[in-house]
Amino acid sequence: MAFLSRRTVIGTGLSVAALGALGYGLWPRMDGYLEEVERQRRLLSADPGLEELIRMATLAANGHNTQPWKFRLDDGTISILPDLTRRTEVVDPDDHHLYVSLGCAAENFVIAAAAAGQAAEVAILGGIAPRIDISLAPGAAMRGPFYEAIPLRQSTRSVYDGQPISAEDLALLEVAAREDGVSVRIFTDAADRDAILDFVVAGNSAQMDDPAWVQELRDWLRFSSTSAVETGDGLFAACSGNPVLPDWIGGRMFDVVFKKKAENQKYSDQIRSSAGVAVFLGERDDLEHWIKVGRSFERFALQATALGIRSAHINQPIEDPAVRPEFADWLGQPGARPDLVIRFGRAPAMPMSLRRPVSEVLV
Ligand SMILES: Cc1cc2nc3c(=O)[nH]c(=O)nc-3n(C[C@H](O)[C@H](O)[C@H](O)COP(=O)(O)O)c2cc1C
Repeated sequence: MAFLSRRTVIGTGLSVAALGALGYGLWPRMDGYLEEVERQRRLLSADPGLEELIRMATLAANGHNTQPWKFRLDDGTISILPDLTRRTEVVDPDDHHLYVSLGCAAENFVIAAAAAGQAAEVAILGGIAPRIDISLAPGAAMRGPFYEAIPLRQSTRSVYDGQPISAEDLALLEVAAREDGVSVRIFTDAADRDAILDFVVAGNSAQMDDPAWVQELRDWLRFSSTSAVETGDGLFAACSGNPVLPDWIGGRMFDVVFKKKAENQKYSDQIRSSAGVAVFLGERDDLEHWIKVGRSFERFALQATALGIRSAHINQPIEDPAVRPEFADWLGQPGARPDLVIRFGRAPAMPMSLRRPVSEVLV
């Protein structure tokens, strides 16, 4: 989703000097943003209440950072409900990503609850009002590496260091992702990564040709730290390695420099620099399995974080309806719906993303 490289910005004719001339005073800074990140990304206090567990749940990965969830407390049961006002109907017309995101949040909740000495049981309910119910019972407090990784996990959309990951670490990632009804395929051969890159480029090209897709993405971009802090959601430029700009400039720059060729080149650099790609496949293409995929992926990402390994989504092969069946064929799973495509490797951390306050997601 990164769309502006510093090179491209300069290449469009706006020189660094001209940008500087806009005045330091006018330029958005990260001060308030970083304080907000620090405030949101604390581990649990000594005696945490349910609201703290919900805060940890909301730090989960979620499509476009729309945070499409609501939490309801009812007689000792915590329900995670879809917030359908936060759908991304163009990129995710059947709410697949939305329910995967709920699965990610549920997993964070379960891990945070265990850290607070609460054993959680998860039930996925379908039907006309789908939800995830989590019931808690006193248990042993378990503050392990997954728990510690919750505030540190991020989608790292940068070029990685090009180095392989040890077989030992790959095995730990595979174990972390184990979930009934979900399988994970890990590709580390350069030829496989190049084949996946071809699917990413095909999917990305189709998406960028669709004005509705571009508009939906643009609506969720936050160009300045002020708008990122104000909304507490969306894709903040700095989290994708892009310059932080006043909103009025950011929008215009996006329209000028968000071009297919540059984006495809960016994905090529990113995928070729990654140690591997993990593909998540639910056994069935239904809401229950989308949520399970979310739980599996979140544990994968937390284990990666605990090992100092970064990860990022390259979901274009599973998002574009024309590319998806070809990708499934390539995986040797004709007719299946692959759920997520994730690259991983080592790289420095990027700025962390923000979340809305718990009071806004509590029903
Ligand atoms: C189901 C799902 C789909 C996603 N798709 C993409 C994607 O296509 N491209 C991307 O860069 N990030 C993608 N993400 C990552 C989210 O944008 C990211 O989780 C969100 O912005 C919050 O940032 P964080 O992961 O750093 O906390 C996806 C996440 C989920 C859960």
